[in-house]
Amino acid sequence: MKGVLLAGGSGTRLYPLTRGVNKHLLPVGNKPMILYPLEKLTKVGVKDVLLITGPEHLTPFAHLLGDGTEWGLNLHIRAQVKPGGIAQALGLAKEFVGGESFWVLLGDNLFEDSLNEMQSDFPLKEDEAFVALKEVSHPDQFGIAQMERGDIINIVEKPKRSIGNLCVTGIYAYTPKVFEVIAEVKPSLRGEMEISSVNNFYAQAGKLKYHILKNWWMDAGTTKDYLQANRFIIGR
Ligand code: TTP
Repeated sequence: MKGVLLAGGSGTRLYPLTRGVNKHLLPVGNKPMILYPLEKLTKVGVKDVLLITGPEHLTPFAHLLGDGTEWGLNLHIRAQVKPGGIAQALGLAKEFVGGESFWVLLGDNLFEDSLNEMQSDFPLKEDEAFVALKEVSHPDQFGIAQMERGDIINIVEKPKRSIGNLCVTGIYAYTPKVFEVIAEVKPSLRGEMEISSVNNFYAQAGKLKYHILKNWWMDAGTTKDYLQANRFIIGR
């Protein structure tokens, strides 16, 4: 499988840390954040990776990663001209992906489980997609998977009433059919093409496979969570 690493966005919840530096280049422990998800891909044998980031950050990523040889990778880097949402960024991977299923990781998600453990339902059928879920104690702060008889039937952003405590993490897998789904996605009220809209298309069709993460998972998207990720990684 190929891999797509998303490292665009604005990182406003980390200001002022991210005014001059891309979020995914900030240190976590002794290395830049992006190396954590990148190394997850290499550990599962991924050889071809496309990294997507804002145009102003292409050079720093090229400095850090080169052409990927150091990680045994064939690395491509592509610009997302404006941060129009995760689904928009993913849409830029169409030509790279070709005909195969592929992993998609958000560059600010750090986790312990191996991607290997998640593949029990693979290969995905053409009309299926995959998300990794994680139990959380504050479901009102996440996109939550609503379950029925063991299937995900819906994903609700920051639910106000209790519909469960399994949040959708930034670990996904798709087939090339996802690009047809993305083409139908309309921007949300905040003007972004949301990955939840894409995943909901699959959930509502009963085609969203999942794996519940067993070990630690962190989204380093806010200053508090970013500092906590550092404390956690350094203290291990
Ligand atoms: P978010 O944390 O949802 O968005 P952001 O990085 O713009 O941050 P903020 O809300 O603080 O301004 O992004 C989650 C991941 O998705 C992150 O790793 C960056 C990536 N991403 C893109 O690659 N392109 C995009 O257009 C967006 C919005 C996010």
